[in-house]
Amino acid sequence: MNRRELLKYGVLGLVSNYGLSRLPAFAQSPFPLPRTLQVRRTDGLVEVQITAQQSHLILGGKPVWLMTYGGFPGPTLRVREGETVRLKFTNNLPEPTNLHLHGLHVPPSVDDSMALVQPGESRLYEFRIPKGSAGTYWYHPHVHGRVAAQLYAGLAGLLVVEGPLDALPELKEAEEYLLVLKDWVFSGDRIPAWTQMDWMNGREGSLLTVNGAVRPTLRAQKATLRLRLLNASNARYYRLALENQPLYLIATDGGFLEKPVELTELLLAPGERAEVLVRLSRPGTYRLQALPYDRGAMRMHGGMHSVMGDQGMGQGMGTMDHGGMGGMGDTGTMGSLMGMGATRLETLLTIVAPANPKPMPLPTSLAPIERLDPAKAAATRRLVLGERMMQAEFFINGRMFDPGRVDIQAKLGTIEVWELVNETEMDHPFHLHTYPFQVLSRDGQPAPYRAWKDTVNLRPNETVRIAVPLRDFGGITVYHCHIVEHEDRGMMGVLEVRP
Ligand code: C2O
Ligand code: CU
Ligand code: CU
Repeated sequence: MNRRELLKYGVLGLVSNYGLSRLPAFAQSPFPLPRTLQVRRTDGLVEVQITAQQSHLILGGKPVWLMTYGGFPGPTLRVREGETVRLKFTNNLPEPTNLHLHGLHVPPSVDDSMALVQPGESRLYEFRIPKGSAGTYWYHPHVHGRVAAQLYAGLAGLLVVEGPLDALPELKEAEEYLLVLKDWVFSGDRIPAWTQMDWMNGREGSLLTVNGAVRPTLRAQKATLRLRLLNASNARYYRLALENQPLYLIATDGGFLEKPVELTELLLAPGERAEVLVRLSRPGTYRLQALPYDRGAMRMHGGMHSVMGDQGMGQGMGTMDHGGMGGMGDTGTMGSLMGMGATRLETLLTIVAPANPKPMPLPTSLAPIERLDPAKAAATRRLVLGERMMQAEFFINGRMFDPGRVDIQAKLGTIEVWELVNETEMDHPFHLHTYPFQVLSRDGQPAPYRAWKDTVNLRPNETVRIAVPLRDFGGITVYHCHIVEHEDRGMMGVLEVRP
């Protein structure tokens, strides 16, 4: 394989790509483009195959064992609104798995997170891409109890839906890039076993990657970029900012906003997606950074000097003695100080602007978004997130997940208002399958703009009200925390929608 082919297939090729493993881990690695899934397209029918398998790849310059959909990130499935997808999924892993179409409004009988695909077996997923759903989605496994292990090991890929709005000149002329954000920890060439701390906090890792590359450099050809961002991490939050340059948010989980929203920073919780326009108004480099963020997780620190030296640390710090917990293998070198704390500032990516950049004007309007009237809600429900931290047990309305129990029964064709309450001391990204929703308010403050979401973050002690239209298809589906360790450890419930 030559260099160009490597770029085409992404940095994570096979181990035989020695050219890459010779690069020092933090050299300027080129920005890898996720591979696009090869499809067969006939009269609106898209036929594709996705296979889950064990993979020996190079990550951060070192060979590692992962589970992937044939490389990390998995190949991007690109489809258009209105198309029908016939997806044959094959499990070549030595354990059961399945495929979840995160964020897509498709029947729960198809996107069935309780279904299991046994090793060596296949399952057919056939679904129609709804009109008006253009946006950035993703696929990943959903076997209760194994989501943390399987997602962490690299089973994630993007699903991009294209629609008529993508033809807007201000979007079409922008240079589009996909960015899958994910962190890792390895012990040798393996992912180590989960510790009790990992189950409590959700596992993070100190190796941060964009499309599987450590701090890559993106050489832009144009001065306007359209970035499609996915947080595919188990538990890490990314508070994204571009040095000295605003981000223009144009789409959230479920597609376009009504018009671009200028942001100085963008918080992306696990499972969330966002699309932003970036305008490179001067030549030179721009760093995409993850600013410090405190999500209430317990962290281990190397000692007071390093704590004080880190940006954003120091708040809410206090030493806590959890000496009895044990089993903290992968963090053992970090010393024994522990407390609540923020992540540190990290550079994720460097963008190099073209010479004489001339960014395009922003689109003035995007997609109209229906106004959901909470006064018309058929029901108002309260969902309280709770935890027994030291046991790493997580609850919704006091109960742990039970696949045989229906927690919420609702009527097809109605709109409901859900009041999500976080009674814990940690952030939790709440996610609902099948039915995209709109955030109405946060602690009584109305949402600053209308947007379709499938995942919404809840800060400690916060109450978020959402409007959920239960439309088009009924069935049994789930909602859960997208810190997937919490999902595996009980923070999930069952919704049944009936005519
Ligand atoms: Cu992205 Cu139920 O998951
Ligand atoms: Cu989902
Ligand atoms: Cu959680």
